[in-house]
Amino acid sequence: MSTTIETILNRRSVREYTDETISEKDINTILDCARWAPSGLNNQPWKFIVIQDENTITKLAQCTHYSTIVLGSKVLIAVYLDNAEMYHHDKDVMAIGAAIQNMLLACVELGLGSVWLGEILKQEEKVSSILEVPESYELMAVIAIGKPVEKERMSSRKSIAELTFENKFGKKWIGSN
Ligand SMILES: Cc1cc2nc3c(=O)[nH]c(=O)nc-3n(C[C@H](O)[C@H](O)[C@H](O)COP(=O)(O)O)c2cc1C
Repeated sequence: MSTTIETILNRRSVREYTDETISEKDINTILDCARWAPSGLNNQPWKFIVIQDENTITKLAQCTHYSTIVLGSKVLIAVYLDNAEMYHHDKDVMAIGAAIQNMLLACVELGLGSVWLGEILKQEEKVSSILEVPESYELMAVIAIGKPVEKERMSSRKSIAELTFENKFGKKWIGSN
């Protein structure tokens, strides 16, 4: 078991998956981690659709430039904001971001790979029609999940120095790398 900090730092987007199926127990753990994310007023504005049906996965693959990722995944989780239960759009959207990050981190801990798909939002209408969601549902992301194909995955980030100021804008945070 790794620490939370190790899990955060070691998580990488995984876009290639083996044929291994994902257990219902693991899917439930991922959903449990999502629902325990913080939300403004504890509003819990999220709704999830777990997709394992091959026919539906094929239809969703046609809604994105990232069709290979979608087709290769074993489980997709479509994440929605239910506008009928919204209290503040921006805050609810941020809470959903936290829920999604919890899912990605849970996947690392479970030995699963995942990637947050946002480009598919361009085809929100098509996706929502395939999934038959109510009018009030606004698509936030689709998470693709599977057992990762073993390979080194690199990523990079801006330095803390580029991102952080001390006390006020302009003075770089001391000790930053
Ligand atoms: C809002 C959002 C939308 C994203 N959309 C996509 C996407 O459509 N396709 C994709 O392959 N990755 C997508 N990603 C993953 C990013 O490309 C990835 O997180 C970033 O390059 C950093 O790499 P890392 O996650 O491996 O650290 C998205 C991530 C976020 C947070």
